Amino acid sequence: MKKKNWLGFQKKTRLERIDMLKENEIIDSDFENLLKENENLSTEIARQMIENSIGTFSLPFGVAPNFLINDVEYTVPMVTEEPSVIAACSFAAKLVSKSGGFSTKILDRKMIGEIALFDVENFDVAAEKILNSKEEIIKVANDAYPSIVARGGGACEIEVKKLEEGNTSFLVVYLTIDVKEAMGANIINTMLEAIKPLLEEITHSKSLMAILSNYATKSLVKANCELDVKLLGGSEVAKKIDLASKFAKMDIYRATTHNKGIFNGIDAVVIATGNDWRAIEAAGNAYAVKNERYEGLTTWTFDENTNKLNGELILPMPVASVGGSIGLNPSVKAAFHILNNPDAKTLASIIVSVGLAQNLAALKALVTTGIQKGHMKLQARSLALFAGANADEVDPLVEELLKVRHMNLGVAKELLEELRKK
Ligand code: HMG
Repeated sequence: MKKKNWLGFQKKTRLERIDMLKENEIIDSDFENLLKENENLSTEIARQMIENSIGTFSLPFGVAPNFLINDVEYTVPMVTEEPSVIAACSFAAKLVSKSGGFSTKILDRKMIGEIALFDVENFDVAAEKILNSKEEIIKVANDAYPSIVARGGGACEIEVKKLEEGNTSFLVVYLTIDVKEAMGANIINTMLEAIKPLLEEITHSKSLMAILSNYATKSLVKANCELDVKLLGGSEVAKKIDLASKFAKMDIYRATTHNKGIFNGIDAVVIATGNDWRAIEAAGNAYAVKNERYEGLTTWTFDENTNKLNGELILPMPVASVGGSIGLNPSVKAAFHILNNPDAKTLASIIVSVGLAQNLAALKALVTTGIQKGHMKLQARSLALFAGANADEVDPLVEELLKVRHMNLGVAKELLEELRKK
């Protein structure tokens, strides 16, 4: 495969960057044109997607090059409104690629749906009856959605749990479903609603609700990386990143910010690929409490013997490669094309690697220069635009802003006025 050339990518114009994507054989001519013309979701399609539509809503679309994941190179599409996220992600991706890249493992890829039963007379008897009728229940579920069975998926497991608090109790039935490449919401909810009357009949109880669970603990993905400390500027930095990861396990105030930083990257790819970012955020944040306290999701360990920093992120990542808005939005199609049309498992691996990269960049900045240096350098552009700078004025105004001790909108406006007088 041709070696990719990213020289000066960040300094190029938008159209030149698209040319570089083409030259690097990441996109073909059709997508080159689509990106150059900034072809977006039409109001007609948007109108079919949601209710009370009045138009479409744009966000910046960028790419982070240099991701090496399981020995395959990726250029990762990211949609975000926040300056410095893509720069930080690209920075970490480049560092990790010099150390062998990310390796990932799909721990499982199934979804869970649940039915809560109440007014259950005898829980043990009801639970036993359900488990004895497992095959019948699974058959009813699968008969309700034969197309997923035809694709090799479908309902495959049933578990039951008794929940009790004060004088309220439920018998919860969890159905495990293999949804293949889809997000699976319709598949799961259809199956659950099909087995609901059967469960009520078997247990002589009532059902409260039947709904998929976003706590996707059967869709866990693990990403790892191992960095030579020389790449980080020495073992002191590695030790501090190790400590920063421990701090985020111990302090919920830090853990929340630490995880927000991870989702800076994850959400950006989830949005770019047309997936449900609320589901991914909810699952990730619930998973952060798996040890009964809210913790930082990454683990960084400095190994003094090998002089390596090891990073690990495990997350529920039930993303899809088909369905939802994926086939409808031209920008989403472009994002998939940039990633070489990954299947759901590959996409999940890419996204968890991005989360690990994003966290590495943030922690490295936090334990060395502090976040403001890199962040503000890039924030200065937004400030210049807010101050009213036109396209020709942004660069000189950013240059002036970076010279001042404290930049803010007032200072940006004053500097712009001075520039205009020159
Ligand atoms: P630097 O060392 O000045 O970077 O860091 P550099 O100029 O030496 O460039 C190194 C590489 O970084 C570049 O390689 C690019 O890959 C990338 P090159 O292309 O030169 O071969 N890079 C850029 N890519 C595109 N556009 C750019 C750009 N600049 C560098 N303009 C950097 C600069 C911003 C990377 C660094 O300071 C950094 O990583 N800072 C962290 C920023 C961050 O995490 N931002 C997220 C928002 S803050 C937040 O919300 C989360 C947080 O609170 C989470 C937490 O607390 O854990 C921090």
